Amino acid sequence: MMHLGLLASGRGSNAEAILAAIAEGRLDADAAVLITDQPGARALDVAARFGVPTESVTRSDFSSRVAQQTAIRDSLLRHGVDMVALAGFAAILDPVVVDALTDRIVNIHPSLLPAFGGTMAPEPQAAALRAGVKLAGCTVHIVTVDIDAGPIVAQAAVPVLPDDTVESLVARILVEEHRLYPTVLGWFADGRVTISDGVASVV
Ligand code: GRF
Repeated sequence: MMHLGLLASGRGSNAEAILAAIAEGRLDADAAVLITDQPGARALDVAARFGVPTESVTRSDFSSRVAQQTAIRDSLLRHGVDMVALAGFAAILDPVVVDALTDRIVNIHPSLLPAFGGTMAPEPQAAALRAGVKLAGCTVHIVTVDIDAGPIVAQAAVPVLPDDTVESLVARILVEEHRLYPTVLGWFADGRVTISDGVASVV
């Protein structure tokens, strides 16, 4: 069984979609821990509702960013995690975490990467509107030390409509995020994802 760790900093709607998929038997995994760097994050309430252990690992409790991320890594390993999903995690992951779980950390980003990477929601969606693209969407990718640039595992596209606002586009993409993320984690649970020469394949 895949032992999943979640890292979240905010509202936690993706964490909620993943935990609901596990609870409803649509995703064969055990949610081992949800770790946050924001002690007030709603994601903590979400985890508690699903009976998932939580930990707050805040920057101010550590002398350096690397010390904080080392604590995050240690917590993940202590909970027996073999797969990590970033679910609105606002910090850039340090190699100390990435190297401990190579090709086993995924992120969801609210754009069709490689377009509009490198910023946090809702900036990617706003940038898509400014660029006048006709398709927007979300990407699940492997986390590497290069921001939003790891191997792409899956994408979901939505149309950009003429009267879209940032809010309406964010909402349309979020529906797809909640569908795509648990699905892709299921592929990992089933051992269907391989990564070779920086390209992810699903068999
Ligand atoms: C989502 O837009 C996700 O794509 C991005 O951050 C946002 C997190 O939202 N990485 P939530 O905390 O999962 O509701």
